[in-house]
Amino acid sequence: MKDIDVQDLSWDDWDELNDPRPERHEFDDVVDQAISRRGFLGGVLAFGSGAAVMGAGTMLSTTSAEAMAASRFAFKGIGIATDFTVHVPAGYSWEPLVRYGDPLFSDAPEFGQTEALPVDGADRVFGENTDGMELFEIDGHEVIAVNHEYVNPKVNLPANEDGAVLTADDAQVLQKLQGVAVFEIARNESGRFEVIVDSPFNRRITHLTEMRISGPAAGHDLLKTDADPTGTVVLGTHNNCGAGRTPWGTYLTCEENFNGYFGSTDESFERPEDYVRYGIGLEGRYAYEKFDARYDVSQNINEPRRHGYIVEIDPSDPTSTPVKRTALGRFKHENAATVIAPDGRLVVYMGDDERGEYMYKYVSTNPYVPGGDTDDLMDNGTLYVAKFSNDLTGQWIALTEESTGMSDAEIRIFTRMAASKVGATTMDRPEWVAVNPISVEGYCCLTNNSRRGATNDDGSIRTNAAGEAMTVNAPNPREINLYGQIVRWYPANDNHADDAFTWDLYVMAGNPKVHADAYGGSSNINEGNMFNSPDGMMFDSAGIVWIQTDGDDDNEGDFEGMGNNQMLAGDPATGEIRRFLTGPNGSEVTGITWSADKKTMFVGIQHPSSPFPDGEGTLARSTVIQVWRDDGKLVG
Ligand code: FEO
Ligand code: CA
Ligand code: CA
Repeated sequence: MKDIDVQDLSWDDWDELNDPRPERHEFDDVVDQAISRRGFLGGVLAFGSGAAVMGAGTMLSTTSAEAMAASRFAFKGIGIATDFTVHVPAGYSWEPLVRYGDPLFSDAPEFGQTEALPVDGADRVFGENTDGMELFEIDGHEVIAVNHEYVNPKVNLPANEDGAVLTADDAQVLQKLQGVAVFEIARNESGRFEVIVDSPFNRRITHLTEMRISGPAAGHDLLKTDADPTGTVVLGTHNNCGAGRTPWGTYLTCEENFNGYFGSTDESFERPEDYVRYGIGLEGRYAYEKFDARYDVSQNINEPRRHGYIVEIDPSDPTSTPVKRTALGRFKHENAATVIAPDGRLVVYMGDDERGEYMYKYVSTNPYVPGGDTDDLMDNGTLYVAKFSNDLTGQWIALTEESTGMSDAEIRIFTRMAASKVGATTMDRPEWVAVNPISVEGYCCLTNNSRRGATNDDGSIRTNAAGEAMTVNAPNPREINLYGQIVRWYPANDNHADDAFTWDLYVMAGNPKVHADAYGGSSNINEGNMFNSPDGMMFDSAGIVWIQTDGDDDNEGDFEGMGNNQMLAGDPATGEIRRFLTGPNGSEVTGITWSADKKTMFVGIQHPSSPFPDGEGTLARSTVIQVWRDDGKLVG
């Protein structure tokens, strides 16, 4: 026994005495390889053996330094902020574009600071909690489609104590503040963008909007309800988180935490197995089930199975019916990144944002033909799930009747269970996926996972909802992962439709001010650019990756020196990361798109905790802001 005072040890350290772990465990070597500078050359070096990787890493250190010196960023990185507004670099400016409650139509009710919006009209305004968005150029018009992920009842029902949902009207107001907004913007006389109120493109899609269910699960018994005995017509899209766009100009909105909207008025309701896996409980977050039987699972057991999909919306036609594309699977969809494979097939990368869930890919059966019919492309195709290996290779494993023992429709409805059957890799909460437009590589933000490697009281390792132990693995190498990382993969044969890939970690977020070990982050993290919980992520047309955070912003302890949530720019070639924007305290920075001329960037500020953007005495309003360079040059 070492000569130490056992009484001073934490319980963790005391355990260490009895069950010492090696100073360096097997994943350290994998991590060293995964974050080597090799990847910063853009994947041009072959790898496959540890020796080759290490050699590449040594060789690249000089190259990286040179590349860093020749930074591609046209701005000076900014410091952290802990205040209640937005900051951008010198030479850039910002102002709000649209806030929660702003009118999209001239008949919209006036926004009040003390009363909820009326039921009639809550869907005539810009909704709550702006998230993923895309800008479309349609016949010379600039049209933004944007998600309204969830609500903040204390802000939305300000007259109700603690924002309690007390009546059917309260519930319906909230239902109308979520979903999607589509609206036209144009420059005003001062050159800034404004919403065109009453534009014929303007539209709100809510929890009450009728949509079509298509693809392999459409019409399946599991999707039938009394209100829809066909299993093909559903009301509403729920918890619309990240987004995507198709090559043919439609918007993809992704249903994430849909489970939180359902509950049971019958306390004795016994949850079926799939409810447990998808986290559908007996009490909904906004009490919808008390006022709207559709959300009461004791009356409508199949209703939750009709949500959790990706929905395609045509922003050019406000009368079009949104389509739930079941072929893309059902899980907590974060966003969707599309790319066309060399043979013309559509590839869609997707993440399932829950601790220990998986990353997915969809490949269409038929090729995309510009100008041709696209309705089949997200109905007929194969779903794959990612399996990462410690040797920095990986496989997309097809979810088929043969590999899963499930019918094709069941695979699309109970996708998580199908993926568990083929040995998918448990991930640290896959958030946004992005594809580099100038290099054949994909990225996924793995935001954090405080349960990774954690133990239960009985000493067993914490599991995901499938009961799979979340031990550390190569792309998720840190126990109690508070900071997150971004994994990057290089499809074999430069083909996003290929089943094989190699991978590395683009960045491991961390706090080098507080930690000297792996929790200090990878070598492209320093005290000047550190952040936690990467979440939103999008490439601009120049191949710069913009990273948005949704993390702990208390600026204390493990997060000391990180400040408010923020947006950073990353250079895939050099690994350099630089802080571009900080959000108001309490907010998440999420959602990014650009004007047609790329001279204005639109950024979402979700759920600020303080009176933003209007200041003292006003409600905190989620806001899309516009950011531009004062000299009028490109920002993306
Ligand atoms: Fe809605 Fe996973 O963020
Ligand atoms: Ca997110
Ligand atoms: Ca998040």
